[in-house]
Amino acid sequence: MAKATASLSGRDILDLDSMTVEEYELVMQTATEMKKIMKRDIKKVPSLRGKSIINLFYENSTRTRTSFELAGKYLGADVVNITASSSSVAKGECLRDTILTVQSMACDAIVMRHPLEGAAAYAAKVATPVVINAGDGAHAHPTQGLLDMFTIREQGKNFKDLKMTIIGDVLYSRVARTNIAAWTKLGADVHVAGPMTLLPRDIEALGVTVHKRVEEALEGADVVDILRIQLERQQKGLFPTPREYARIFGVNEEKLKLAKPDVTVLHPGPMNRGLEISWEVGYCDNAAIRTEVQNGVAVRMALLFLTLTGGKQIENAN
Ligand code: CP
Repeated sequence: MAKATASLSGRDILDLDSMTVEEYELVMQTATEMKKIMKRDIKKVPSLRGKSIINLFYENSTRTRTSFELAGKYLGADVVNITASSSSVAKGECLRDTILTVQSMACDAIVMRHPLEGAAAYAAKVATPVVINAGDGAHAHPTQGLLDMFTIREQGKNFKDLKMTIIGDVLYSRVARTNIAAWTKLGADVHVAGPMTLLPRDIEALGVTVHKRVEEALEGADVVDILRIQLERQQKGLFPTPREYARIFGVNEEKLKLAKPDVTVLHPGPMNRGLEISWEVGYCDNAAIRTEVQNGVAVRMALLFLTLTGGKQIENAN
């Protein structure tokens, strides 16, 4: 494969719509090198020595926050975590002041998760450090999109040849919006299915095929991305009962048989087991869910490295 020549030096990473296919390629190739570092006994290189990264999280997270922290540490950066509930945000400090406060501490990157759409773009306007969006409301989750892309590529699958199906709560899912943007840009045939109450009205304009029945969307699929029901974002009454949702839209072993035998099952986590995904599917051989988590560290290492150093030689990567 030709070496990617794009540059992400100094770039804010806010969504995947605003990144080019060449920039995706650069992240993928760099993440491949980063995964080699993760497999070493001593997972530490000095590529980001002297750089400071602040993880500013206004919403709960296990995977994203921890993997950004490890990613920064594996590359030798200093990493500090701030959660809204234990910071001066709880005393009423506004977003602008919080951003300017952390910027004053000479940090080089702010990784931010926020419940409001556009919060990361606002931070990028206010702040001089690099801003990486770790999820803003129902808008975008670019690092989840990149780690899903990396996971699919790692399985030797070529996006142009794939039927890719997204199932569930598309309306409130930043992961769905992000993956639809990237997968359509990469030439995949993207399908979605879910309750009509959980599909955006203009969803077809995004270049996807919409199905009322999950079974149709699963037929012959190469990749299935099962979305978490975003109970914290929804109004009540968008589906009758959890039991009804699981019966009609939940993915179980029986329904999964409709997909290709080598189907890749993705889920961004945390899983509502027994609701959108059965226990068996969550643990089946096709499930790449824990690989997604591992690849999340490699992809976040790649992004921190590329935005903060411009992609200079990875030291001791092999
Ligand atoms: N996928 C994801 O964003 O998970 P966390 O909420 O645990 O970070």
